[in-house]
Amino acid sequence: EDDPLNDKYRPLYHFAAPANWLNDPNGMVYYEGEYHLFYQHHPHGTQWGPMHWGHALSRDLVRWEHLPVALAPDANGMIFSGSAVVDRHNTSGLFDGGTGLVAIFTNTDTYPDSPGAAGETDRPRQRQSIAYSSDKGRTWTMYANNPVLADESITDFRDPKVFWYEPGKYWVMVLAAGDHIRLYTSPNMRSWTFASTFGSTEGAHEGVWECPDLFQLPVENDEGNAKWVLLVSIGDGRPEGSKTQYFVGEFDGMSFTWEGEGILWMDEGYDNYAGVTWSDIPEADGRRILIGWMSNWKYANATPTSGWRGAMTLPRVLSIKKTEQGIRLCQRPIDEAQDIRIGKRSWTAIQLENDTWSHPELTGDAFELEMVFEDAHAKEFGVRVRQSEREVTTVGYSADDAQLFIDRTKSGESDFHDDFAVRHGAPFVLANGKVSIRLFVDRCSVEAFAGDGEVALTDLIFPDPASRGIELYALGGTVNVASLTIYPLHANATV
Ligand code: FRU
Repeated sequence: EDDPLNDKYRPLYHFAAPANWLNDPNGMVYYEGEYHLFYQHHPHGTQWGPMHWGHALSRDLVRWEHLPVALAPDANGMIFSGSAVVDRHNTSGLFDGGTGLVAIFTNTDTYPDSPGAAGETDRPRQRQSIAYSSDKGRTWTMYANNPVLADESITDFRDPKVFWYEPGKYWVMVLAAGDHIRLYTSPNMRSWTFASTFGSTEGAHEGVWECPDLFQLPVENDEGNAKWVLLVSIGDGRPEGSKTQYFVGEFDGMSFTWEGEGILWMDEGYDNYAGVTWSDIPEADGRRILIGWMSNWKYANATPTSGWRGAMTLPRVLSIKKTEQGIRLCQRPIDEAQDIRIGKRSWTAIQLENDTWSHPELTGDAFELEMVFEDAHAKEFGVRVRQSEREVTTVGYSADDAQLFIDRTKSGESDFHDDFAVRHGAPFVLANGKVSIRLFVDRCSVEAFAGDGEVALTDLIFPDPASRGIELYALGGTVNVASLTIYPLHANATV
């Protein structure tokens, strides 16, 4: 009954650990034709525990092969979140003249006994360490002089994301430090020099800052212009729990300067946290690809799965574009997701007026839907999925408050946490009464992308496997569904 691979909520095409607990994606790096995905993992239980780095490999970002645990706790403590890079020029000196992979992560242990500081001996201590691999990530060696960065004056000090800064020919580390991020530089990843801080008075602060990422993107609709994007995840403290914000600005090799205002969320759903991007994707490809942990610290340890817990979002390509409000982050699922389609059925010109529409072949538990809504005059319209007599998940547009929303109040099991059964949304303005929505549904999730992906909503749901109904609907008026396509999806990982 506890078989993790046959659990009724086990995703059919999202990544999850073969068994037991998973949280943040870690150390994503592309190297010699392989995408590596490491992840926060407790290999001996279905709840958060002593953290290891689990490991998986893919050639296409959708079909994964599970590999043995890559990093396990050692004398320096547990292995918390971090990144990995290709050390092309052996700057670290760890590769005997060759090249290889370096992983940079947070070792968490407790302060050694300090006489006189009664009751304080269990205080967590977080320091940055490295490990390296000369065999394409198959085996890892801890660097002998870990940790490589410590600052005992800071309590929350973790989740290093490292990248090569070509103009200065040095490494940059972005690190979360409680209520701000800190930047460090290094010639070799073995010793780090403080460069700058950002954020103690900017952005959202209801929770501790975690899992930063910093990268440059071209502004899609402004040729020749490029900006730096800083992602920061903030821990559980808001009504909707943990969530990832982003800042757009400039980076000069030492410090980040924010050029925006207000608070911007990377994903407006409840369940896309701690997302960071792949390192070392070849320039010829040029994509900036993110994957997030599809859960929320509010209820992550209580979700009703059996033998496994925690899955990743679909990998997504990030872009930025200029809007009237400022520069905004857009995201779309990787094109490789088209390779896991196992069927297709399309319809066109479906007129809805205060009613619903379905079809015997419009059904499923793991699928993608492409929908183009036009001439919207309804108060509300959208699609109901994972539907049966008892349950339903709705993704729609509500004209009164101009919001794209997900309603999971009746989506299935939700009694594991008081705040799970919610309807929530994000502002979205229809252009001439039109909106395209792409929806990815799996055994325990929905991911909605609207327009060019300027709004993304990612939520967990726990419906009965038999709830497979799908229907379009309009309330209080009319809408034309110009086209509707369903693709059943399937891509189980190999163990
Ligand atoms: C984010 C996080 C990180 C930390 C890891 C521990 O979800 O809290 O800050 O490194 O999870 O598992």
